[in-house]
Amino acid sequence: MMQSNPIPALDPNPLPAPYWVFKLLLIVTFVLHIVAMNFLLGGGVLALTAKWRAKNGGFGGRLFSDVAKKMPVLLPATITLGIAPLLFVQVLYGQFFYTSSIVMAWPWFLVLAMLTAAYYGFYYVSFRSGQHGGKAGGVMLVSVILVFLIGFLFSNNLTLSQTPARWATKYFADPGGWNLNLTEPALIPRFLHFFTAAVAVGGIFLVFVALANWKRDREYARQVLQFGGKAFMYATMAQFVVGLVFLVSLPRGLRMLFMGDSPLAATLLLVGITGGIAAIFVMSGALRNENIRAAALYAPGVLAVTIACMAVMRDLLRDAYLSPYFHAGQFAVATQWSVLPLFLALFVAGVILWLVMMRRYGLLGGKKEIERPQP
Ligand code: HEM
Repeated sequence: MMQSNPIPALDPNPLPAPYWVFKLLLIVTFVLHIVAMNFLLGGGVLALTAKWRAKNGGFGGRLFSDVAKKMPVLLPATITLGIAPLLFVQVLYGQFFYTSSIVMAWPWFLVLAMLTAAYYGFYYVSFRSGQHGGKAGGVMLVSVILVFLIGFLFSNNLTLSQTPARWATKYFADPGGWNLNLTEPALIPRFLHFFTAAVAVGGIFLVFVALANWKRDREYARQVLQFGGKAFMYATMAQFVVGLVFLVSLPRGLRMLFMGDSPLAATLLLVGITGGIAAIFVMSGALRNENIRAAALYAPGVLAVTIACMAVMRDLLRDAYLSPYFHAGQFAVATQWSVLPLFLALFVAGVILWLVMMRRYGLLGGKKEIERPQP
């Protein structure tokens, strides 16, 4: 029996901090990563839509150019904010995540090549976006498709990491590592759930672009606000269908967790859905009254509750998938009190610094001090 167990032995080194600290950091940093990714992917999709709807001119062309200039910053923000959860995932779920990465080695390795190509594309577009005609739209499309595919590979790896029973079949089908997890019924609904959320949060990103232009050019800012706000509302409405399909695609035992078997999971689902509905109403009122404050502050504030609930639910789901093989009590813990408080203080300071940086750069609606011409 032991010989057929494909799960590598647990790292014998004790955790340097309590389990819950790593869990909390994993969830918090994952949320930061996914929001940056949503700005990147959702912002890119919406900028392309605006450009093509406007046939290269007017409001759509200008919005495309504004968003294109931010892409070379959003991509490294997504990567940097992905490294943190990568570290925590390796500490807690290394046995599972490393193995699934090996089973799908080549597609996983391709993530690096795709990231590099997308990066080049975004730089190209950011330099050329102001020019009429040209290849900027096409190059942006290719880069956005690459980012989309990278997200899909992440969903492949993470779903594979939580179903060890599939590893051996996949590995022996192609020991060279050309494997994906396409036989997983929840894969496509799960990834579509992420993609739809990316478009919705991309809409919020455009609302921040509107906020940054509110005083400078009210007419343009109004158009961006309406476009971004509506994209947020429609994508969030679509999410009720996509989310339901995702829930139905889960194995019955896991689905039932959210239907009442786990009071915590069911409550989070209820609060998350309520937050989504409330955010739609807040945004709708904000668009009717052209209230930029409500659109850029209250709607994202309410949405943050939904995102937090969904991130915790995703984690509960992973632990439920892995429950036959994994439990929190399996770790030895030897807390390093001498460095832990320093680490946590630096972590919080780092997050605050990052937010200030984003705001100064104009990604969170602040003014673009760096680009403002000097008198
Ligand atoms: C720019 C392209 C990227 C996109 C579109 C993207 C997208 C995603 C998506 C959709 C997920 C969730 C998958 C799921 O649960 O089914 C995810 C998770 C994750 N991503 Fe990214 N990602 C990108 C880049 C990166 C990079 C470069 C890193 C690391 C350096 C990273 C680290 C992570 C980690 C560690 C998780 C899992 C966290 C957890 O399981 O709690 N991502 N990403």
